[in-house]
Amino acid sequence: MNVADSNEMGRHLKAKGLVETQDPEDASIYLVNTCTVRQHAEDRAFSEIGRLGRWKAKRPGRKVVVSGCAAERTKEYLEDRFPFIDLVVGAKSIENFNEIAGRLLDRRATDEDLDYAVPAVNEKVAAFVTSMRGCNYSCTYCIVPYVRGREIYHSIDQILAEVRDRVSEGAREITLLGQTVNSYRHGQHRFGDLLRAVAGIDGVERIRFISPHPYYMTDRVIETMATVPQVCESLHLPVQSGSNTMLKSMMRNYTREHYIALAGKMRQAVPDMTLSTDIIVGFPGETEEDFRQTLSLVEELQFDWGFVFKYSAREGTPAAELECLPQELIEERHQRCLELVDRIALKKRLDLVGTIQDVLIEELGVGRTRTNYKVHVRREAQARQGAASINEAQARAERKPARSASPIGRSLKRRAQPQEKAAASSNIIHGDQVRVRITNAQRATLEGEVYNGNLAFENFREEDCRAGTCPDRQ
Ligand code: 5AD
Ligand code: SF4
Repeated sequence: MNVADSNEMGRHLKAKGLVETQDPEDASIYLVNTCTVRQHAEDRAFSEIGRLGRWKAKRPGRKVVVSGCAAERTKEYLEDRFPFIDLVVGAKSIENFNEIAGRLLDRRATDEDLDYAVPAVNEKVAAFVTSMRGCNYSCTYCIVPYVRGREIYHSIDQILAEVRDRVSEGAREITLLGQTVNSYRHGQHRFGDLLRAVAGIDGVERIRFISPHPYYMTDRVIETMATVPQVCESLHLPVQSGSNTMLKSMMRNYTREHYIALAGKMRQAVPDMTLSTDIIVGFPGETEEDFRQTLSLVEELQFDWGFVFKYSAREGTPAAELECLPQELIEERHQRCLELVDRIALKKRLDLVGTIQDVLIEELGVGRTRTNYKVHVRREAQARQGAASINEAQARAERKPARSASPIGRSLKRRAQPQEKAAASSNIIHGDQVRVRITNAQRATLEGEVYNGNLAFENFREEDCRAGTCPDRQ
């Protein structure tokens, strides 16, 4: 959700003529989009903001903007502790960011020559589209309903218009976003209708959604996932705990048995689907037996991957009133659970070695399978000849460019990024859909090589390759 919000704010700024830079020394505006879901996230945001005092002091005309959930929760504290902040935009105000940001861009308000350039076209292959904001749930550990407010659904027309915009900028994969994304309702429309409507837009090849709530994983949604070809075979379905006592205390509105039955139904309907989850360990009152229930659920369901979080008390939530478990116990359970989740995930990834996957390339040499594994892709020919691999080219390209000594205004102009130069010299570029043979799965990101040459599916002609006339082999 935060990435989507950052993109949205970025789009407004770009539409006003600003360009993005990776180098803080080049920047006139530094926007920190914060998260408050766990204390750790908030602490990291505060230390990042703290560092900006010096950044701003170097050129007083620079602007510091702090947005998002932590900004919503701690607005006054932020303004007191970091008086150099120019603008605080709480999570509830992100939709009004366009107007709010206008103030920042008043040239008279800055002593710098903000040398506006033509906005770059956003060519993200995989784009996020927000379909709802806020959350009507009251999970007792969660701060989100407090900082993001109650559910607001965007109309199907609004969502489709945004999908079309993203497609026209180069997107081929759309991820629908919401705190309980599958609770979608607008007029007569429910989530299944939304998925079908998005699938109906020309150019949308893949659809994903995060995060669904088990309660709204209805038969209709399952059937839509199983039958609409654009909807990918991958589901991230947070379970949080395997103990019914904990689920009740968390107010999750489902039981362990309900979740297991649902996972079974999903896997039956969508056989190759990957299933991933979120787990919280060390929730107040969690006994060793409760925790073992979580481990046994992980064993039973064999999640393809999972995120394991240490419970973090959030002020103002009902769970924050309860007595916390000792931190060492939380750490120990976190470790045990993570080891189990990671062991199963590695086994699942190793099973993929030797398989052929459809990979949509998102950036130079890196793409995703439909089942949502990230894959580093090498060209087969390069691998055989031992020539510089795409991965090496990418490593070169990603090396931080030397800091520019040019005046800030000039340096804001859009330069060709090294990645783009490297991409131009490579045959696999973002937006390509390639067949990849998985060669290695030890690390979280799979590795593979292009199978049968680097050709987009629609242009692929097997006879060319057999005859040796395939352009990729010459
Ligand atoms: N402590 C730990 N984890 C939390 N999450 C949400 N709130 C908390 C909290 N207070 C986790 C949940 C959720 C994910 C986004 O963050 O697992 O699914
Ligand atoms: Fe938080 Fe629960 Fe809403 Fe998810 S469903 S955002 S965990 S309150």
